Amino acid sequence: MIPWVFLRAGEYPSGSELFSLAPSFLSPAETAYLGTLRFPRRRDDWLAGRWAAKRLLAALQPAGQPFIATEYALMRSPSGAPILHHLGRPLPYSLSLSHRAGAVFCACCPLPGVALGVDLEWVEERHPAFYQDYFTLAEQAFAAKAEPNAPAVWFTLLWSAKEAVLKSLGLGLSVDPRRIEISADPHAWQALHRQASASVWQIVTVQTRGLPVDAPLSLWAQRRGDFVLTCALNAKGPAELAPDEHPIQP
Ligand SMILES: CC(C)(COP(=O)(O)OP(=O)(O)OC[C@H]1O[C@@H](n2cnc3c(N)ncnc32)[C@H](O)[C@@H]1OP(=O)(O)O)[C@@H](O)C(=O)NCCC(=O)NCCS
Repeated sequence: MIPWVFLRAGEYPSGSELFSLAPSFLSPAETAYLGTLRFPRRRDDWLAGRWAAKRLLAALQPAGQPFIATEYALMRSPSGAPILHHLGRPLPYSLSLSHRAGAVFCACCPLPGVALGVDLEWVEERHPAFYQDYFTLAEQAFAAKAEPNAPAVWFTLLWSAKEAVLKSLGLGLSVDPRRIEISADPHAWQALHRQASASVWQIVTVQTRGLPVDAPLSLWAQRRGDFVLTCALNAKGPAELAPDEHPIQP
């Protein structure tokens, strides 16, 4: 199972509260990095990501073993991908996070050698140029004719899935997103639309073309109200690897 958490604004401390709480949950290396962040919104998002990641790690700690948040550091690799350290040593867990509209989504894959990418998006209309520039013709055709007729929902799902895949491959938006083509059984997409309040993961199909890194991929998506959550693994996992929401203490 892939443990994950999704926290909306109001379900975790605000930016100014997190800033005050920072000494209780940031490692010294993270505290030094925080000092370099100049823009309040970026600082709030960055703090929210560390807060969610450490709440998730605390919830995963075996019973009876204390979790000392300041011993863990979620640092930035040269590509921007997060790397988890404990007392200065990298841990063989892949952790990924995403922030959007005051919410934060974080997941962790404890299997060595398997990298994970997650993404969180808010369903919204975007400029038509965005659809033309970043989606393959097949994806554009799908979003235009999928039922129910809600292109913003479908494009948001497709976009989020691409970002999750690019993160799981450690590439981010350094490559053309059209090299990743997302598709799924139309009934599965309709189920995603219907299940906006049921929070059910659906398997999504992905094909990649000419990427510098090739890997068999697993991909899931779900809707939570007007949010879309996606989770990708750079491996074909057994069914038991599917995401599994982890309850955390506030
Ligand atoms: C990774 C990327 C797709 C994230 O996009 P986003 O929707 O703006 O932001 P999200 O909140 O969903 O994700 C941000 C998190 O992704 C992670 N991330 C960043 N780069 C990553 C990469 N190359 N691989 C995997 N994860 C990455 C980080 O954990 C980051 O959060 P943090 O900085 O607080 O730790 C995008 O920022 C990117 O591609 N960055 C690298 C390439 C770049 O900077 N290109 C120049 C821009 S033109």
